[in-house]
Amino acid sequence: MQRALGDGYELDDDPARIDLAAVTAFLTDSYWAEGRSEVEQQALNETSARVVGLYRAAEQVGFARVSYWEDRNVAFLNDVYVLEEHRGQGLGLELVRETVDGFAHRDALWLLRTDDMHALYEKLGFVRPDGKWMVRAKR
Ligand SMILES: CC(C)(COP(=O)(O)OP(=O)(O)OC[C@H]1O[C@@H](n2cnc3c(N)ncnc32)[C@H](O)[C@@H]1OP(=O)(O)O)[C@@H](O)C(=O)NCCC(=O)NCCS
Repeated sequence: MQRALGDGYELDDDPARIDLAAVTAFLTDSYWAEGRSEVEQQALNETSARVVGLYRAAEQVGFARVSYWEDRNVAFLNDVYVLEEHRGQGLGLELVRETVDGFAHRDALWLLRTDDMHALYEKLGFVRPDGKWMVRAKR
């Protein structure tokens, strides 16, 4: 999949195009992956069911990754980001939309964790868990 978003931005799910150094440089300072190394990120990318990059020309300006448990039809959305100077123009929404709705198992049960971006994910059908699901919070 390659999809132009206008103004030179493009989504691409080719794992070979991922700029590992750029992705790790952002994520290692994020609140959820603090201190993550390139070796660790590479291993996560390789075991992911899908990695999607947001690019402007040759530059990696965003990223998202999907873990998928086939036996349970459960997908986990991870490591979503758009570089700060590119935010606020709808790119994050399109990145997440493509990552989720363009995934082969888009009808899976999707999970994610977020500190403060609930509003973004609610635009794409994510809700807080229902009465049947139980979670044990990260410690
Ligand atoms: C989350 C992130 C990817 C959004 O990227 P973006 O390109 O700015 O997002 P969009 O412009 O497509 O915004 C889509 C929606 O996200 C929500 N949103 C975006 N920025 C937000 C902010 N600072 N605070 C709260 N909600 C926000 C809004 O609901 C917004 O819709 P609106 O413009 O109609 O209000 C980006 O802010 C980011 O990389 N943040 C740092 C990393 C992070 O927190 N990642 C998510 C971890 S779960």
